[in-house]
Amino acid sequence: MFRCLGIESSCDETAAAVVEDGTKVLSNVVKSQIDIHTAFGGVVPEVACRSHMEAIGPVVEKALSEADLTLDQIDAIAVTHAPGLVGALLVGVSMAKALSVASGIPLIGVDHIYGHMYANRFAFPDTQYPIINLVVSGGHSSLYLSRSEIDHDLLGSTVDDAAGEAFDKVAKILELGFPGGPHLDKAARGRDPKKVYFKRTYPEEFDFSFSGIKTGVLYHVRGQKGKGSLTLSPDEIADVAAGFQEAVVDMLTKQTIRAAKKHSVPRIAVGGGVACNSRLRVKLTAAAKKEGMEAYFPPPKYCTDNAVMIAGIAWPMSKAGLYSDLSLDAVPTKVYRATRPN
Ligand code: KG4
Ligand code: ZN
Repeated sequence: MFRCLGIESSCDETAAAVVEDGTKVLSNVVKSQIDIHTAFGGVVPEVACRSHMEAIGPVVEKALSEADLTLDQIDAIAVTHAPGLVGALLVGVSMAKALSVASGIPLIGVDHIYGHMYANRFAFPDTQYPIINLVVSGGHSSLYLSRSEIDHDLLGSTVDDAAGEAFDKVAKILELGFPGGPHLDKAARGRDPKKVYFKRTYPEEFDFSFSGIKTGVLYHVRGQKGKGSLTLSPDEIADVAAGFQEAVVDMLTKQTIRAAKKHSVPRIAVGGGVACNSRLRVKLTAAAKKEGMEAYFPPPKYCTDNAVMIAGIAWPMSKAGLYSDLSLDAVPTKVYRATRPN
């Protein structure tokens, strides 16, 4: 039996969880900072770090007590060490190291993105590999060809904004609230997505680009210089939201299906906060089905940031001997670029 305590603090959620043998969730504690950041309309890194500092101890204690375990019954401590806000990451990494030193329990440093890809294992533990993974979150939008839970080749990524970032910025332009993704998804529900059209951009296979559409929305609602005030009615705003969402979903869907076809992989898994998006779930599932492929989405609670995915992936990592020592560092950005033939 392998019981792992997972810790996650890369952005604005302080989270801890205990998972047994990679898929059995014994506890899942997430303390969101949404309320704190709403006043600023976005995540303020310094505020996030201070909030993690206050929450980390109680959150870890709660994860252990909800699992009905004490630290000495834990086999490994896994922690997100990259990528994310460096100060935020440091809080989780320092906590994990301190617990590891004090208890002698081994440490596993986890890449947050790999965690997002692992999240589907909780709902679909028997999914076969290879699989095409689409990770779409507030900080990342990437496609991977995955050969196992811990073996991922990057096929492409965003050349500018992440998909979630685009949702958040456009929601801000449309004054829909923070965090933007869920609000925009809700506003667009039931609207005709063809009423307002935004140009789709397809950079080199299999990259994404979302900054053009963000500017397109800004000019559409605030005039050519983007400086006018928002004078649209709530119905018109909802139509712009639906048109924007449809364009982003089309771009994500098309590149993902292309990647799956090119690599002859009939399975697609989606992860990250944007995997909650209702339209993406419908359209990507339908597009995959049309091509004879399967598309998998984790339950929403495992799409957004959580520590279950971190404690979960530690299991295959431990089997592969991927433990960390005390030199484990908080790494804000891991700049992966796809390797392409000339
Ligand atoms: O994975 P996540 O919790 O944090 C990062 O690792 O970035 O993703 C958060 C992102 C935010 O940009 C949020 O607006 C977006 O996921 N998001 C959504 C939806 N729910 C969350 N975007 C579109 N539609 C949603 N329903
Ligand atoms: Zn994330």
